[in-house]
Amino acid sequence: MNWSRFFREELEPIQAYQPGLREEQIREIALVDTIHKLSSNESPLPPFPAALAAMQGHLLELNEYPDGSSHHLTQQISWHYGIPSEQIVVGNGSNELINLVAQTCLKPGSNVVYGWPSFIVYRSSAQLAGAEYREVPLAADGAADLDALLDAVDGRTKMLVVCTPNNPTGGAVGADALEGFLAKIPPHVLVVVDAAYEEFIDDGRAARPLTHFDGQRPYVVLRTFSKIYALAGLRCGYGFAPPILVEMLNKVREPFNVNTLAQVAGLASLEDTGELGRRHALNVKGRQRLQACFERLGLHYVPSQANFVWVEVPDAATTFDELLKKGVIVRPFPKDGGLRVGIGDDEGVGTTIAAFQELFGI
Ligand SMILES: Cc1ncc(COP(=O)(O)O)c(C=O)c1O
Repeated sequence: MNWSRFFREELEPIQAYQPGLREEQIREIALVDTIHKLSSNESPLPPFPAALAAMQGHLLELNEYPDGSSHHLTQQISWHYGIPSEQIVVGNGSNELINLVAQTCLKPGSNVVYGWPSFIVYRSSAQLAGAEYREVPLAADGAADLDALLDAVDGRTKMLVVCTPNNPTGGAVGADALEGFLAKIPPHVLVVVDAAYEEFIDDGRAARPLTHFDGQRPYVVLRTFSKIYALAGLRCGYGFAPPILVEMLNKVREPFNVNTLAQVAGLASLEDTGELGRRHALNVKGRQRLQACFERLGLHYVPSQANFVWVEVPDAATTFDELLKKGVIVRPFPKDGGLRVGIGDDEGVGTTIAAFQELFGI
C-alpha cells in the first residue's frame, strides 16, 4: 500500500513533538525518591488557590460545551490590560495561537523569520503551512538579534516572530531596541512577539511588548497562563492583535477551543495580582541562587529573565543523565552544548545546586 499518496507532502519533514520521560520512567533511573521536573518550564507550584476554587465551582457544568467566545475571560483580560476586547483572542495554549496565526497568514511561497534556537513550534507551524522558515542565530546575550532578523526579511516574508524572553536561552530584547526595530519593519510583515515568559522579567530595561501595541499596525503579542500562572495542564493562552486579524483567527480556530475550566481558572488567576507578585519574587530569588552557583563553578551561563537558565557544560547528554540520577530533570540541547535548567521551588533550586556542585565542584 502506498500510504504517502494520502498525505500532504509538507508533513514529510515534520518531526512529531518529543515528550519528556514519564514519571515512572524517571523513577527507574533516579537514585532518589524526590524528583524535581525542571525540563518543561512549568511552574514548580500548583495553580493559584483562587484558580482552584474557581474550577471547583464549575465542575458540575462540564456536561455542557464551554463558552465558545471565552466571553468572561476576554472581558477580564481587556479590563486587566486596558485593551478593547475585539483586540483579544484566547487559545488552547499560546501554542494554538502560534499555529492559528501561521495557518491564517502563511502559505507556500511565503516565509517566516525568527531567532534560533527558540521555540520549535515556530518551525512546525511554518512547515504545516507549507511556508519557508528562516532561522537566524541569536545575539550573544541569548536574546533575539533584531538587526539580523530584519536583514533576513525579504519581499516574501509574511511573519517575523520575536520570542522575548527567549526559550531556551532566557535573554530578553531591550525596550529601546524593540521600539527602533518596529519602526524599521516593512508594512508587509506581521510581527508576532511571543511573551510567554514576560511575567518573570525583573530587568527594567527589558522590552514589555504590549506597550508597543496599538491595535492597528500588524503587530501581535502572545501571552500564556501556562508559566507563572501554573496552568500548563489546562491549556490556555491569549493574544492581542488588530481586530481584523482577531476576526480571521476566529474563522480558523475550533468553535470550542478553550475548555470551561481553563476559562474560569484563567480569569481567577489574572485577578490575583498578590499571588502573581509572590511567585515572581520566588522565581527571581531562585534564578539568582542558580546563576550564582554557575558563576562559582565557572560554568558559562546566560543571565536569564525567565523561569529557566541556559548553562553550557562540556557534555550536555552525560550531564543530563547524571542530573537525572540525582532526581533533577533538565532539558539537554546536545547540539548546542547546553542545558536549560528550570527554576524550581526553594527545595528544587537547592537540590539542583547540590547536584551541579557534586558534578562540577572541585
Ligand atoms: C516561547 C514559548 N511560547 C509558547 C509556548 C507554549 O505555551 P502554551 O501553549 O502552554 O501557552 C511555550 C511553551 O513552552 C514557549 O516556550
